[in-house]
Amino acid sequence: MGEDRPGTARQRRVLPTVADTEALGRELATGLRAGDLVILDGPLGAGKTALTRGIAAGLGVKGRVSSPTFIIARQHRAGERTDGPPVPLVHVDAYRLGGSLDELDALDLDTDLHHAVVVVEWGGGVVEHLAERHLLVRLIREPDSDVRTATWEWVRRPDGD
Ligand SMILES: Nc1ncnc2c1ncn2[C@@H]1O[C@H](COP(=O)(O)OP(=O)(O)OP(=O)(O)O)[C@@H](O)[C@H]1O
Ligand SMILES: [Mg+2]
Repeated sequence: MGEDRPGTARQRRVLPTVADTEALGRELATGLRAGDLVILDGPLGAGKTALTRGIAAGLGVKGRVSSPTFIIARQHRAGERTDGPPVPLVHVDAYRLGGSLDELDALDLDTDLHHAVVVVEWGGGVVEHLAERHLLVRLIREPDSDVRTATWEWVRRPDGD
């Protein structure tokens, strides 16, 4: 779905189980390439890390995806990939950054974007300036239920950045 670029309609899917969320991640990984920024939005436990696990599987990168809460950013080396050139994945959890732009700068994500796909949990309002466009995935969680609903669309960086 990396071929979808700004201008394509927002898509939506109901995700009854964590396996469905991972499967969506694998689909979204199709066509993602170096320079692509993915922003994951949604409350605690919404499934952002689960979706990232699917993206990582789709890209075929090395290493287990876990919540990077205490690391902030984790690099996964490129691995075998059938649907495009091998590409590393940088998985960021911006939750603990608490809007600290200094810490964000220190991560050097703009450099990572030259060679990697960068996925940022809690990245809304924080990392949009890093790329001309980003894939925005929103996960919504129903109370007392495993069901999540995802919407996703490619969004252009607002003018003036
Ligand atoms: N349909 C579903 N999609 C995704 N996760 C689900 C679903 N149903 C149940 N779960 C469970 O919900 C939890 C989602 O956790 P996950 O770490 O992916 O959320 P998160 O959005 O990354 O949270 P955080 O904001 O703390 O990083 C997991 O325990 C997962 O097994
Ligand atoms: Mg998470």
